[in-house]
Amino acid sequence: MAPPPLPLVRLLRYLRDNRLVWDLCGFIYNRYIGDALTPLFVLLTDEIAPRRPSRILDVGSGPGYLTCLLARRCPRAEVVGVDFSPRQVSWARRRGNALGLSNMTFLRGDALHLTFPDESFDAVASVGSIKHWRDPQAGMSEIRRVLKPGGPAIVAETDRGASPGEIRSFMARFKTPLLRNDLLLWGMKRIVFAESFTSDDLSLMARKAGFEETRPLGVGGIPYVCVRAA
Ligand SMILES: C[S@@+](CC[C@H](N)C(=O)[O-])C[C@H]1O[C@@H](n2cnc3c(N)ncnc32)[C@H](O)[C@@H]1O
Repeated sequence: MAPPPLPLVRLLRYLRDNRLVWDLCGFIYNRYIGDALTPLFVLLTDEIAPRRPSRILDVGSGPGYLTCLLARRCPRAEVVGVDFSPRQVSWARRRGNALGLSNMTFLRGDALHLTFPDESFDAVASVGSIKHWRDPQAGMSEIRRVLKPGGPAIVAETDRGASPGEIRSFMARFKTPLLRNDLLLWGMKRIVFAESFTSDDLSLMARKAGFEETRPLGVGGIPYVCVRAA
């Protein structure tokens, strides 16, 4: 059994998942980190777009990188991004407006209590958010509930099994050298990656939520696990 987390780790993990912290510090992720994940966003979009969905949901949409990509690749679809941080929602709206995308809406909402009717989306995506949810299994069940039968849910999260070298190479993609230091490397290893999930964890959660098929996806250089469930 894993040793219990140190109090410091517990505190940092609490801050990592806190809505106010996302309100105040989300801009660091949005400005300097988020678009390091572009190859992963492209992978998810490639999986979803060919199905010609009419409604797509992005849960924990943050600054809306994936949401915007989906809206651009699926111009006939209505794409909805949901995030529990009002500041993140405003950031994403500004970004969507700047890109002139009109088939997209950003709403404030909690992944654990989605305010959509059952079976109201053709596809659901979520990147880098589920580890922050108080009850990830309940969030996965919400994704299953709002998804039409057969539609794909694609959930990606930092890989608990990533090696320090993989994390360091990933950090080299961040936009500012200020974020490439040993303290942040420690935080990324101990608070972000080590307190996350494996591909098997995500698949198991998806199956418990009622999905019948799960398939792992991945993209080189991005130490995230990703599962496509239907
Ligand atoms: C690491 S960011 C990822 C953002 C975006 N998906 C991306 O890949 O760029 C995590 C986001 O999840 C949001 N979040 C955390 N817990 C949430 C919850 N319970 N419900 C909705 N959003 C949540 C945070 O506000 C933050 O914007």
